[in-house]
Amino acid sequence: MRRQIAIIGAGPAGMFLAHLLHAEGIEATVIERRDRPYVEGRVRAGVLEQGTVGLLRRLGLAGRLEREGLVHGGTNVSIDGRVFRIDMAALTGGATVTVYGQQEVMRDLFDAAELRGLDIRWNASDVALTGLDGDRPVVTWREGDAARRLTCDFVVGCDGYHGVSRAAIPASVLRTFERVYPFGWLGVLADVPPADHELVYANHERGFALASMRSPTRSRYYIQCGLNEDIGDWSDDRFWDELCLRLGSETAAKVTRGKSFEKSIAPLRSFVVEPMRWGRLFLAGDAAHIVPPTGAKGMNLAVSDVTMLGEALSEHYREGSDAGIDGYSARALARVWKAERFSWWFTSVTHRFPTMDGFDRRIQIAELDYLRGSPAAQRSLAENYVGLPLEAA
Ligand code: APR
Ligand code: PHB
Repeated sequence: MRRQIAIIGAGPAGMFLAHLLHAEGIEATVIERRDRPYVEGRVRAGVLEQGTVGLLRRLGLAGRLEREGLVHGGTNVSIDGRVFRIDMAALTGGATVTVYGQQEVMRDLFDAAELRGLDIRWNASDVALTGLDGDRPVVTWREGDAARRLTCDFVVGCDGYHGVSRAAIPASVLRTFERVYPFGWLGVLADVPPADHELVYANHERGFALASMRSPTRSRYYIQCGLNEDIGDWSDDRFWDELCLRLGSETAAKVTRGKSFEKSIAPLRSFVVEPMRWGRLFLAGDAAHIVPPTGAKGMNLAVSDVTMLGEALSEHYREGSDAGIDGYSARALARVWKAERFSWWFTSVTHRFPTMDGFDRRIQIAELDYLRGSPAAQRSLAENYVGLPLEAA
């Protein structure tokens, strides 16, 4: 097989890129290790930045989002139960975020991919990349008993943190930057109305809690937990009790309890590799960087990466210019690091760290109290939360 672009991985990064390239008339094949139900079924975050919504609209993929997405102009922060609201729209000249689960985004991307005839190879095992430092990279894989081979101009590694793409770059070229947090998030989904029409991020003496949602009838709640905790020890009753304690009485009074239908623990980590390009291989999304979920930047960052890459590849094929391709890594990393900073900061001021002493705790409270009283501090949070612009290289 011969294609202009090979995309490894059909997560958000790979599928947004596949649609962007299709819209530009650039031929691509997506090679995915799992099947569609698996990829679509993974429960992930659900807050879309304004730029992500804009891209879905430009790609003609926003029909269901416009009907079912919940537009949020503000968000709430709770300090030991005392709640204040940040009016993001007022602070940013009207910018908002939209609550729409990643699973819904994936369903829309896959449905449209079928209609538009995008080439996706599911259940691809033993994916291997060769010739990345030459002119004609080759991707090989297996589909059942059949061995496949694709020759292309460029390979885009959208295969997440555990993929093969990043590993194809020589160790001597890559620099890795990492912070592992000494806690995780225990997340629950339940078909009960959300506590508030907007999110509540809570810092409590006992640890962080977050009240989020997927729809007017489906809630998503999280509490900070230890990394070695056994999910079996967390009955629904214990979860609701701890959540309500951390959210504080004002928010807890609005929590509707119910049976959970999803419960899992996820670790928190910050991770970046540089550069995001080596020869004819580009990295995008979780293959190149991970953020802790505080602030909901993961999927949005994958989208901004592939938006930049789509522009760069379009410039290459339409205008014969490699300026975009050559500038991709630096341009993407400049935005990635700002999202890393925001996610790290928001995590740092809202979570309980095992090493914290009284001084650290009071600094945290002071920081959030400053946020409560300062329009300047609120504006800084708001512009990061709704999504920083995609600046030129
Ligand atoms: N070969 C082919 N596909 C692979 C391989 C491989 N060796 N390894 C992983 N994949 C696939 C995975 O099965 C997955 O579907 O690559 C895809 C990567 O998707 P994500 O991990 O979701 O990464 P990305 O698309 O960068 O999404 C970034 O969305 O899913 C969230 O937590 C994620 O918030 C982050 C954002
Ligand atoms: C979610 O709804 O899953 C969610 C929302 C906000 C976050 C993280 C996760 O910061």
